[in-house]
Amino acid sequence: MSILIDRIGELVTNDAAGEELMRDAAVVVDGDRIAWVGPATQAPPADERIDAAGAAVLPGFVDSHAHLMFAGDRAAEFAARMAGRPYTGGGIRTTVAATRAASDEELRAGAARLVAEARRQGTTTIEIKSGYGLSVADEARSLRLAREFTPETTFLGAHVVPDGDADSYVELVTGPMLDAALPYAKWVDVFCDRGAFTGDQARAVVTAGAKAGLGVRVHANQLEAGPGVRLAVELGAASADHCTHLTDADVDALAAGSTVATLLPGAEFSTRSPYPDARRLIDARVTVALATDCNPGSSYTSSMPFCIALAVREMRMTPAEAVWAATAGGARALRRDDVGVLRPGARADLTVLDAPSHLHLAYRPGVPLVRTVLHNGVPL
Ligand code: NIG
Ligand code: FE
Repeated sequence: MSILIDRIGELVTNDAAGEELMRDAAVVVDGDRIAWVGPATQAPPADERIDAAGAAVLPGFVDSHAHLMFAGDRAAEFAARMAGRPYTGGGIRTTVAATRAASDEELRAGAARLVAEARRQGTTTIEIKSGYGLSVADEARSLRLAREFTPETTFLGAHVVPDGDADSYVELVTGPMLDAALPYAKWVDVFCDRGAFTGDQARAVVTAGAKAGLGVRVHANQLEAGPGVRLAVELGAASADHCTHLTDADVDALAAGSTVATLLPGAEFSTRSPYPDARRLIDARVTVALATDCNPGSSYTSSMPFCIALAVREMRMTPAEAVWAATAGGARALRRDDVGVLRPGARADLTVLDAPSHLHLAYRPGVPLVRTVLHNGVPL
């Protein structure tokens, strides 16, 4: 079945080979792919029609960093932070206990609710991490369930040390836990930061994952300027995530390498921390992505529009840069070329806004501006 979306006032394509921003445009979708993009006056016919009535259309958001496999909430921890308590990452263990105690059905229902919530806000690709099981069986279970929602699944057994000694836990993560995760994981990740894993431990974790065939991502430099970012670049990671505290050497490494810097402003918002400086990265020609980091501790939002608004207001990104980072940037962070872009052959993943331009995503914060979402060519 084909669908014509016409009378598009502003079309964000992100197609560097074509026009990245078009006025008075139309898009034709055929099955799960984009079939045609061009001026509204030249649009070919299709089986069905969606009248955009002058609104903006953009690629579906690519949320390249989310922790959706968990149970319980940590609203009290959030309230304590807003009353002045700092964020340490120590609350991860609270969520681990709740997650281990939950049934498969509870974990699946929790993730389904968040995926649906994200979808209503325009997200059409989402990455999901494990990391709240932290035992061989619980990590494998989280990834097996995550696979029901997305092919972009990430093994984060090295989130924190659940108990006992760190070096023996790293041996578990790089051995039996990795083996159990492999059938369900595409990526390996590690929390390389104060209170979590050292540079050497992180290196052992992601090197073992890469040897087993997984792509590499690293939680890096969220709490302090540690070795995470340079490790990610050295190992050719697809993404270094957070990048809140960066030295000049970190920025230089990112600029020289192929690792995307994924910024997660929901985490700084919810932990009341200083935001990363996106301008510094973009001016150094680093590829920047935006993602939600959706998790019950540091960033309990599924909203990419909220992250765009924060990035524009607080991180010196232009609205166009922020929208690019939330779509094409996320695709780069997942090494995907079939999403985050509207060109013939790409996936038919797009959103029609209740607004005339992408500027409104930052200009009208907190307003539900996503009118229609197409995922794989199917309207929500
Ligand atoms: O990305 N930094 C590590 N992990 C998560 C937080 C997890 C939690 O607090 O539960 C993050 O912010
Ligand atoms: Fe995270």
